Amino acid sequence: MNKYVRAVLHLARALATSPVEAAIRTVWSLPFACAAGRFAQRYTDRAPGPVAAPKPPAANALADFFQARTSGRGVWKWEHYFEAYHRHLARFVGRPVHLLEIGIYSGGSLEMWRAYLGADCRITGVDVEPACKAYEDEHTTVLIGDQADREFWRRAAAGLGGLDVVVDDGGHTPEQQQATLEELLPLLRPGGVFICEDVHGTTNRFAAYAAGLVDELNRADYTATRPPQCAVSGFQAAIHSIHFYPFMVVIEKHDRPPERLVAPKHGTEWQPFL
Ligand SMILES: C[S@@+](CC[C@H](N)C(=O)[O-])C[C@H]1O[C@@H](n2cnc3c(N)ncnc32)[C@H](O)[C@@H]1O
Repeated sequence: MNKYVRAVLHLARALATSPVEAAIRTVWSLPFACAAGRFAQRYTDRAPGPVAAPKPPAANALADFFQARTSGRGVWKWEHYFEAYHRHLARFVGRPVHLLEIGIYSGGSLEMWRAYLGADCRITGVDVEPACKAYEDEHTTVLIGDQADREFWRRAAAGLGGLDVVVDDGGHTPEQQQATLEELLPLLRPGGVFICEDVHGTTNRFAAYAAGLVDELNRADYTATRPPQCAVSGFQAAIHSIHFYPFMVVIEKHDRPPERLVAPKHGTEWQPFL
């Protein structure tokens, strides 16, 4: 089946099975999505220079590992990922956390995660290529399977135990990325971090999927107006934030689920116009 027929069937299935609200919001938001493209493509920065010299970059052991890797098992990452990795993962360093990476290739990134997180971490690598089993050792489990195969994840789930970090650096198709996120995000422990890499291009459909998740994070089910407050959905109770970087989406889970979202006013002096 050619890719355009597949895309049309996919669209038809999505519209038929999605909540009506999700289909409506896609059409409703279209003018704004188009406006964003127009604005970003013509974007010219007009900000004045910084008031002080920019701070030197903070120490980043993960970036240092990558730069120092000039021989041995290969690691293949976009350089700008390292700042985001460190921002979201530094709090796990030295703790007995479990990181799972999809996409092992030549094994170097499994070594990198362990060097960064410390001796108490547990690493699981997943790859569709059986040759990657060679990277299994006493600290590292390697599972061979297709990340797009939900049955593979369901079979694997029992043996995974808790997960704290997932890094999807596998096949990079939106279908693979969606299936992986939907199977693994619910398994992440509170405070966990899900990273999906290589979300390339201005028509990337996984980016559209992630933007749909942002819509759900913005859900506002009001239960009272003074002060304004909203009940949290199951998704909002679990998900703290969604971050977009060039080619990368990062989702962080709450350490503790919020009971509600509320906007109280603090202070005694107010303008009369609101
Ligand atoms: C970009 S490489 C991974 C690079 C590695 N993480 C690193 O940092 O050096 C992508 C890997 O994903 C694997 N892969 C491709 N499709 C896959 C799939 N459907 N399921 C699991 N792994 C897949 C490939 O075999 C390859 O080893």
